Amino acid sequence: MNDQLFLGIDVGTGGTRAVAIDESGCVVAAATAEHAPFASPQTGWAEQHPEDWWRATQEAVRAVLAQNEVRAERIAAVGFSGQMHGSVLLDERGEVIRPALIWCDQRTDAQCQAIRQRVGAERLVELVCNPALTGFTLPKILWVRQTEPDAWRRVRSILLPKDFVRFRLTGERASDVADASGTLLFDVKNRRWSNEMLAAFDIAEEVLPRVFESPEVTGKISAAGAAATGLREGTPVVAGAGDQAAGAVGIGVVEAGTVSATIGTSGVVFAATDRPALDPKGRVHTFCHAIPNRWHVMGVTQGAGLSLRWFRDHFGAGPDDGRDPYERLTEEAAQAPPGADGVLWAPYLMGERTPHLDPHARAALVGLAANHTRAHIVRAILEGVAFSLRDSFEILRQMGLPIERVRLGGGGARSRLWRQIQADVYGHEVETVQAEEGAAYGAAILAAVGAGAWPSVNEACKAVVRVAAHTAPHPETVEVLDRHYRAFRALYPALRSVMELLRTENDR
Ligand code: XUL
Repeated sequence: MNDQLFLGIDVGTGGTRAVAIDESGCVVAAATAEHAPFASPQTGWAEQHPEDWWRATQEAVRAVLAQNEVRAERIAAVGFSGQMHGSVLLDERGEVIRPALIWCDQRTDAQCQAIRQRVGAERLVELVCNPALTGFTLPKILWVRQTEPDAWRRVRSILLPKDFVRFRLTGERASDVADASGTLLFDVKNRRWSNEMLAAFDIAEEVLPRVFESPEVTGKISAAGAAATGLREGTPVVAGAGDQAAGAVGIGVVEAGTVSATIGTSGVVFAATDRPALDPKGRVHTFCHAIPNRWHVMGVTQGAGLSLRWFRDHFGAGPDDGRDPYERLTEEAAQAPPGADGVLWAPYLMGERTPHLDPHARAALVGLAANHTRAHIVRAILEGVAFSLRDSFEILRQMGLPIERVRLGGGGARSRLWRQIQADVYGHEVETVQAEEGAAYGAAILAAVGAGAWPSVNEACKAVVRVAAHTAPHPETVEVLDRHYRAFRALYPALRSVMELLRTENDR
């Protein structure tokens, strides 16, 4: 009897999405509430207000509860997923002290250098499996401590974005191993806070949340959480996972061999591993997976879906015919030939992580001639994002990780043209799954496992994730795009000195 439901809540960058699934993994109801766009008070800065995430969560959950007989009493457990790395700082009353610096914020170059100096670059990787990157949480904490000492004096609690929403819903300060992995304070190998890192940066463990494995129950919906959302007081809440690990669960990337390429605001190539596998150059992250005793590596492109959104916001999506603007844009892109007739897009709108690890990288559109049109530019953007993800595939290959199946997620999976471009750029068949509901779906699966509906995340994925379609690469296009990929590889090194000259004093 498909009576029990499980609710996944994904606190993303663009919006919060809530998805209710039944015991066979079918989506019964889903709703999204948009967030205000992130504020960028200076180049490379990115801030959002945590209360806006909480407002959007209440809206999305209420909208789900209003659909298809989804009564609150049917929801057996709630799971979370969320944008990673953000710094939510709370005072002694649990109130937000300042807007969160979010994952794509790039202001902390100096703090990253200080972390490397204090701990030593090699020791850092031994302790937390990752190098110091501007997007991670610790450098953000240090920036606030140094730049805004008054705000810092009031900090009693530091949470990740989804865990702030959990705190509002349950009153508990808790997190999960996958999300905690992106803080630079977490001992990824041993799946616990790193005492050595906490001591080195004088951070008391009491200000951090307790960390759980993803399917574990961390608390229950409180009376206040129930009143705000319509959920039933006492409903169990599981830890869930950072959005990439939860998204991987949602599309069944749980064992070595299957690798996903997900295009949301950021773009991520993700591989599950049985051990914490390291890239000696630190170009991909090594984090805990949302499955006990499993890890993952992932390469991240900062400005993937963001590239297309940026184009849409500033240059429009063509005449409004009632269709989705992204559908109109990709249809426009299809008018240009593969390779966009020599136009290349380097998607570094918010600096870049994999492979360049350069917060000062900037985007570029190269190769334009008078006969090029908007169609060439949009196609170049779709291809440029895929080239940038191919950089991550190349690193996984260098690390000796198996790539047997490539599964697509996010906006890049929903567009037929972008699926084909990805198959052609990766030179590999790509798959899409039936319920392409993203990280919220993975969070709902984790809730179901926590509630005992399946014995493990693997079993749950075997039962519910179904491949819907395969897209094979076109050999002639692969050849063209291979050549363009070589040009793409040459673009960043060629532009570096130009970027350096363009950097203002402010940026240095
Ligand atoms: C992962 C990352 C992004 C954010 C935003 O490291 O920074 O994927 O989680 O979705």
